[in-house]
Amino acid sequence: MKKLTIGSLKYNHMKQTITIDQPIYMNKLPVNQPNRVLEIKQNQRYFQVEVKKGQSILDAALEQNVFLDYKCKKGTCGKCRVELLNGSTYLQPANYLEEKKLNDLIHRRFRLACQAIAR
Ligand code: FES
Repeated sequence: MKKLTIGSLKYNHMKQTITIDQPIYMNKLPVNQPNRVLEIKQNQRYFQVEVKKGQSILDAALEQNVFLDYKCKKGTCGKCRVELLNGSTYLQPANYLEEKKLNDLIHRRFRLACQAIAR
C-alpha cells in the first residue's frame, strides 16, 4: 500500500476552472426593493443602485455606500464612467458633457455617473 504524505498531494490535481455566468454584484439589494434600480458595471465590478428623481447615479451610489470611482463630479475627468447594464429608462438622456466626454461610448450604454440624472 502506498503511503500518502503532504508532498505527494500535487497542487495540479486540485486545480479547477470556475466560470461565472452571472455577474456578482458587490451590493446586492434585497428582493423587495422598488423598481427604480440600476445595474451598473465599473472596472469589472457590478453594482446595483436605486435612484430617486433628480438624483445622479453617483450621488445615489454614495448615499447607499456604493463606492464608485470618481474625481471631479463635474463631468470633465471621466473617472466615474459606468456601463449601464439595466435600468436606462430611469435616466434622463445624456447631457452635453457626457456626449463630449464619452463620444461613441454613449451609444454603447456608457454614462458618466456624476452626470446621469434620474427622471
Ligand atoms: S467624476 Fe469626473 S466626470 Fe464624473
